[in-house]
Amino acid sequence: MKREVSKKNKRLLITGGAGFIGSHVVRRFVNKYPHYSIFNLDALTYAGNLENLKDIEGAPNYTFIKGDITDTDFINGLFDQHQFDGVIHLAAESHVDRSITDPLAFVKTNVIGTVNLLNAAKELWINTPLRQWPRGREGLRFYHISTDEVYGALGESGFFTEKTSYSPNSPYSASKAGSDHFVRAYGETYGLPYVISNCSNNYGPNHFPEKLIPLFINNIINNKPLPVYGDGNYTRDWLYVIDHAVAIDLVFHKGKNHETYNIGGFNEWKNIDLVKLLCSLMDKKLKRKAGTSEKLITYIKDRPGHDLRYAIDATKINKELGWKPSVTFEEGLDKTIDWYLQNEEWLKHLTSGDYQKYYQMQYGDR
Ligand code: NAD
Ligand code: TYD
Repeated sequence: MKREVSKKNKRLLITGGAGFIGSHVVRRFVNKYPHYSIFNLDALTYAGNLENLKDIEGAPNYTFIKGDITDTDFINGLFDQHQFDGVIHLAAESHVDRSITDPLAFVKTNVIGTVNLLNAAKELWINTPLRQWPRGREGLRFYHISTDEVYGALGESGFFTEKTSYSPNSPYSASKAGSDHFVRAYGETYGLPYVISNCSNNYGPNHFPEKLIPLFINNIINNKPLPVYGDGNYTRDWLYVIDHAVAIDLVFHKGKNHETYNIGGFNEWKNIDLVKLLCSLMDKKLKRKAGTSEKLITYIKDRPGHDLRYAIDATKINKELGWKPSVTFEEGLDKTIDWYLQNEEWLKHLTSGDYQKYYQMQYGDR
């Protein structure tokens, strides 16, 4: 199929767009680039929720496609049909605790699913005769969204840079590391134009309540225990999700091919300190007596293979692309808590599983 390709009609596939980070990326691209056609491909697993995108579902430049990245024929057919010029790949199994109980699900989606997408992009962009791409290969790009967890664990000091060796410790981070290696290998072997970013822990609106911050907000609202793993002295570097979406926009448009960019908040918190801050903010918001929520903290058996500390050195993206976080942690956490308090229906749908029954009826198995 021959088609004029220009900046005006870029056809962009975003995978995992119904998830936490993906929904913020889809919203940003749909609103900011009305001349792009944005295709959101998502299998709507337990983590995918189209309620996240209600505000843009009717936009003329937006199409939702329900489908599974592990389905080779389906993915090949999709690339053939839509002739994408760009891919931003976020679809993944993303929760460390689930990867400990079901590692194979992570290999399937994160590794095989990514290789399926890479093969389809290679077929279209590299193996399709150039005459069918009037603008040549300029502007084609496969952007793989990865995590800082591929670098393994840090001790009390030091930072992950783009040159830090991979040393994944959980089945989740091993599967993400595997997918990163495949992306890089397709660049080296077949000349596929790619870029990768590795980001620290995100937080913000639409975060599924199995991860630390939204789980604890939900439990505080409902007066349930706050299960802190081990002694709580594990450190994460937290970034507001909308700042991640801004960084993704920049890397997609301005990053260099075959490069990696680390994205992080320069915002390290020990879990227990973060939980105590959250408790005191929630007490104020819920007009409860100071100290009420802290009483819910319950230390439980540690996560196996628990990484002690993550911390990103985001100098490269700052110097080369001018990116830096726009909100402080206190501001971001404040906005996040407000969002959850104003969207208790969203939380209730997720915790009851109602949203999945609804999408099953609406979209069937695909
Ligand atoms: P998420 O679990 O909230 O969303 C994942 C989305 O992918 C869901 O909508 C789900 O339905 C979809 N999906 C899962 N399997 C699929 C399949 N086989 N086919 C099609 N769609 C499928 O995840 P998230 O937290 O938004 O993370 C998005 C990406 O960012 C992931 O690649 C993750 O590794 C990466 N990342 C996340 C964080 C974080 O703190 N959450 C930090 C750095 C990097
Ligand atoms: P999580 O949100 O699962 O992200 P990740 O494991 O990808 O960093 O966990 C963040 C930190 O919080 C991590 O050190 C594990 C810890 N944690 C708890 O102590 N209790 C919990 O219930 C959860 C979900 C996480």
